[in-house]
Amino acid sequence: MTNEKLIQMAYEAMENAYVPYSKFQVGAALLTKSGKVFKGCNIENASFGATNCAERTAIFKAISEGEKAFVKLAVVSNSKQFTYPCGICRQVMSEFMMDAVLLFDDQDKGIIEIPMTEILPFKFDL
Ligand code: THU
Repeated sequence: MTNEKLIQMAYEAMENAYVPYSKFQVGAALLTKSGKVFKGCNIENASFGATNCAERTAIFKAISEGEKAFVKLAVVSNSKQFTYPCGICRQVMSEFMMDAVLLFDDQDKGIIEIPMTEILPFKFDL
């Protein structure tokens, strides 16, 4: 699975974003160690706090299907710029994928890879 392909799958997922309030579409594609890809989009709600981010949609889909070992997570948006995960998503990611790599895309700068350890150097843990 190339970085370009995973980013493309994240853009595909983005098309399903339900964003009547922010109009900010986000897509995610999560590659498991077993080679499967789980896609996710953001899903907003009239009660804003009930909104689910694209990254968590992808992670929760994977976990609920019995997958817990992740290699890469691609995140894109309709902003045409690098879109970095919110704090809640970083915390959820930290539970399952501290050894994974994140992929981001910018229309002009292209694809970049950032390790989880760099995005969240000091994770909360029990
Ligand atoms: N959003 C995500 O899907 N992922 C993030 O990491 C940041 C924010 C969504 C939530 C909401 O639907 C919209 O972007 C604006 O905050």
